[in-house]
Parts: sequence; C-alpha cells; structure tokens
Amino acid sequence: MRHFTSVFDLGDLHEALQEALEIKRDRYKYVELGRNKTLLMVFFNSSLRTRLSTQKAGLNLGMNVIVLDVNQGAWKLETERGVIMDGDKSEHLLEAIPVMGCYCDVIGVRSFARFESREDDYQEKILNQFIQYSGRPVFSMEAATGHPLQSFADWITIEEYKTVERPKVVMSWAPHPKALPQAVPNSFAQWMVAAGYEVVITHPRGYELDPRFTAGATIEYDQMKAFEGAHFVYGKNWSCASPEHYGQVLSKDRIWTICDRQMAVTDNAYFMHCLPVRRNMIVTDDVIEGPRSLVIPEAANREISATVVLKKILEGLK
Ligand code: CP
Repeated sequence: MRHFTSVFDLGDLHEALQEALEIKRDRYKYVELGRNKTLLMVFFNSSLRTRLSTQKAGLNLGMNVIVLDVNQGAWKLETERGVIMDGDKSEHLLEAIPVMGCYCDVIGVRSFARFESREDDYQEKILNQFIQYSGRPVFSMEAATGHPLQSFADWITIEEYKTVERPKVVMSWAPHPKALPQAVPNSFAQWMVAAGYEVVITHPRGYELDPRFTAGATIEYDQMKAFEGAHFVYGKNWSCASPEHYGQVLSKDRIWTICDRQMAVTDNAYFMHCLPVRRNMIVTDDVIEGPRSLVIPEAANREISATVVLKKILEGLK
C-alpha cells in the first residue's frame, strides 16, 4: 500500500481484519519492520486519540516518530497558490511539504475541513498536496472528508462484539453546539457498507451526507424507527454537507440526543462514538457509562488500526 485515505486503499478487508487481530494478540510482532524508518505526524488540528495511538503504532513497528503541530512552533503556513504573501504567513505549504518529506519515510496528516469552500474541502486539497509534493507515502489521520483510521478501528470493534453475521448498524445524527465536519460519518458509512452490514443512517432533514459516501446505506428520517432492532448504534454530529448550507448548523434539537428511550427499541444495541463526545448533547451519561458502551474499546482499537496501516505502508516501501 502506498497511501491510505479511505477503505478502498486497504485491499482485501478480510485479510486486513485478520492482520488486525494478529497484531492485537502480539502488537510487537513486526517491531523489526520499521527499524531506521521515520514516521512524521503532521497536525493542523488538535487530537488526543489519533496522536497517541498513531505514535504508539509507529513505536510498535520499531519506527522513529516525529510529531509536528503546525500551529504551535512552526512557521504559519500559506496554503493557497498565487497569494501575495505580505500577511502573517511566513512559509508556503508548497515548500514546507517537500521539506518535511526530506526528514521522514512516511507522513501522517491531520487536516480538518475548513468550511471556507465545500469544493476545496471535498477535493481534499491539503491531504492531496502532501501526496503530490512530499515524495512519501501519506496516510490520513482525519482529513476534510474522511477519518479512515477511526472507521477501521470501529469496524474491528464491531467484529469483536457482534453476535450475528450481518448486524444492523445505525448511525444517528445528534446535536452539538458547534459546526463539525462530515469526516467521521462519511468514513463510517462507507466502511460499514464495504463490510457488508445492514447500514441505516438517521438524521433530521437537511443533514444528508454526500451520496458518494452513503451509497448502499438506508436513510431513515424517523430516529425511533431507525433504531428498531439495531445491534450497534453510532452517535455522531455533523454539519450540513449540501452545497447550499455547507458547514451550517440547522438544528440543536436535543430530542435527537441518544438516551434510554431510543436504546430501548434496539436489539440490546451497543453504543459507539469516536470521541471526543459532548455528554448530554450527543449521548446521555447513562448510555455512555452503561454496560453496552464501546467507546473505550473503540479508542483502544485505534492503536491496532494504525499499526495495520503503517505495517502495510512499510511493506510497500521495500
Ligand atoms: N477520534 C479521534 O480521532 O480522536 P482525536 O480527535 O482526539 O484524535
């Protein structure tokens, strides 16, 4: 594997799952693979889980790891070509990226949607510039429209906990005070369909995700109906994805907050969320603290998904 930006880069999913389970049993099995190889993790945005789990994954594989927080200590970067740089930005991304590539073998990039232009966000301008100009394999640590490392970890978690071959997986929009990107729900929908599950997405009207990510899933606007018989419930907020209302928050209606009322009509579903989560906006204390909450196992599996992805990239270097 050269780059990792979506489920489609991973190859055979069944094999990837077996690799994940193998690494979970012995996470240092491939510690020699990354000897004298350097992982650079570039963060344009904040992180707790991705930072720690991906760094740990690099260490599991014997890599040297460098972390760069672009907004803390690096020169302020211009990202648009053609701009007269007479403002506060000292360096252009088009020089910075190949320079970063000089010091490492693999680059992970976190660059969220900026909500300035739907076109720019959905073209993944920042991530694709790293792919084009770094000369290195690049993997997404959450970009504008996708968070595949998270979805891979979510999928591993579902495979570990499912009790039926083809579970019903419901992704539910839930309220949040601020505009959030569509990266996690896009990737989750795409990954769950690729995994062959029954996938239902529920949200208020106006919150439709881009059909390129949701193809194969059922959209159900009635949240209670969507939850009926669910085996897994994935809570998540996202802002509007449509060109007319891109990045806008149309609703903060807490009737959508996931609580015992909706969970009661499921088939004793597990609750999932990528974290960080706003309690009592997205989900009540009772549900997230309850015995069917999988939020910590999901976070733990971030180390595993990142180790598999880095292993595949390292194998591609040879
Ligand atoms: N789920 C996730 O990516 O968490 P962080 O934003 O803390 O990395």
